[in-house]
Amino acid sequence: MLITGAVGFVGAHCSLALRAHGDDMLGLDNFNAYYDPSLKRARQCLLASQGVVVLDTDINDAALLERLLSVVPFTHMLHLAA
Ligand SMILES: NC(=O)c1ccc[n+]([C@@H]2O[C@H](COP(=O)([O-])OP(=O)(O)OC[C@H]3O[C@@H](n4cnc5c(N)ncnc54)[C@H](O)[C@@H]3O)[C@@H](O)[C@H]2O)c1
Repeated sequence: MLITGAVGFVGAHCSLALRAHGDDMLGLDNFNAYYDPSLKRARQCLLASQGVVVLDTDINDAALLERLLSVVPFTHMLHLAA
């Protein structure tokens, strides 16, 4: 599964719940400063401790997304980046 906005409020909670359910996922987030990014970094560490990697990536980077989607066979996408 691919989760965008993975270190946001909803994204982090969903990631933890899905991980506890046994799902594998990769997160994307650009760690923007709409609110304190240190909170997002702390969530990134928490998610990493549970085996969820969050890449520091902007979803507007079309080339990177195309490359990622071509190499990883994601079954689902949860799009929360906003
Ligand atoms: N929190 C709520 O009560 C609530 C209710 C209804 C709908 N929503 C929707 O759910 C989604 C997530 O909400 P949230 O409360 O978790 O917000 P949030 O701001 O905590 O999380 C959004 C995350 O997306 C990331 N992001 C923003 N633009 C990005 C980009 N271009 N590329 C990569 N990452 C990017 C931000 O850094 C942030 O971590 C939003 O679409 C929001 O409108 C939230």
